[in-house]
Amino acid sequence: MDNIKSWTAEDEAIIATNMDATECKRCAVELGYWKDDYISYFVRHADRKAPEINRGYYARVKAMEMFIHQFLERCGTKCQIINLGCGYDTLYWRLKDTTQAVGNFIELDFPAVTAKKCHIIKRNKQLLQKISNEDGEVMIRSGDLHSDGYHLLGCDLRCLGEVRRKLAAGGASAALPALLLAECVLVYLRPDAADALLQHLAGAFPRCALLLYEQCNLGDTFGEVMLRNLSARGCVLAGERLRMRPAALVERLRGLGFDAARAWDMQAVWRALPDDDRARVEALEMLDERELLLQLNTHYAFSVATRGDIFADMDLNA
Ligand SMILES: C[S@@+](CC[C@H](N)C(=O)[O-])C[C@H]1O[C@@H](n2cnc3c(N)ncnc32)[C@H](O)[C@@H]1O
Repeated sequence: MDNIKSWTAEDEAIIATNMDATECKRCAVELGYWKDDYISYFVRHADRKAPEINRGYYARVKAMEMFIHQFLERCGTKCQIINLGCGYDTLYWRLKDTTQAVGNFIELDFPAVTAKKCHIIKRNKQLLQKISNEDGEVMIRSGDLHSDGYHLLGCDLRCLGEVRRKLAAGGASAALPALLLAECVLVYLRPDAADALLQHLAGAFPRCALLLYEQCNLGDTFGEVMLRNLSARGCVLAGERLRMRPAALVERLRGLGFDAARAWDMQAVWRALPDDDRARVEALEMLDERELLLQLNTHYAFSVATRGDIFADMDLNA
């Protein structure tokens, strides 16, 4: 029965956030904020975004990269990455071009998103050749894409049973360290569903690190405007959790079964970026709206929650 689902208008609005994120990333890549040779396969055109949006995306992608690197430094590539609400994220291909390609990479999103991602991968040799075996084979089973070390699986993250089954089908293993990514995803789940998911994952992987990026501090006027704007586009976010400050996020993550957690607003992340990176990015575009960037940065948080001693010291300045 799990496969026979009807998606609501709200689900459709949530699914559409993937295109927004991908277009914003493509725009920033085109302007030279960071390098991504693969994003252009997933979105053909992106209108120019405001400089503060581009900078916000840069800090988000850079923070993810820094912590992915820390994780891989600690456990090596004999590990797994589980990308929750992956959208059109290109991390798998970017890692493949480094010495840090991991043993198993599992991506989960709504079937409507994974089916399109699968179609794009199959149509583009540059993407396909990095996931297929020697004779260029990938396997499509029940609408999901499986290959040696890469699995793209359609799944509703609100249904734990489905998540469990899909992770098993993707070869997730409790014996291997797991990096769990949730980049601007869990906000779209009701708080009890997001908590149940995180609790399950923390319990399932005794050595793991979760990287979580989402809105925070939405209890003020700026935050209320952000919530209203999202709601006008059909995404009614559960405001209460998003009103949390980073310190409260830490408590929440600890309460869900992680041994250690840290969280910062994105202004703290921005300040912690290497000086030369910040200087390079600041020179790319003139920023008129300094106050707006500060407001945006203080309304997004980056959290890291870990289980297992080897990951306990992952930190912004590690
Ligand atoms: C804002 S996009 C972010 C995509 C990607 N993580 C990134 O940062 O580029 C949010 C993604 O979460 C997915 N998502 C939200 N709720 C979901 C759910 N209940 N089950 C599966 N995917 C979900 C959406 O379909 C969308 O692709």
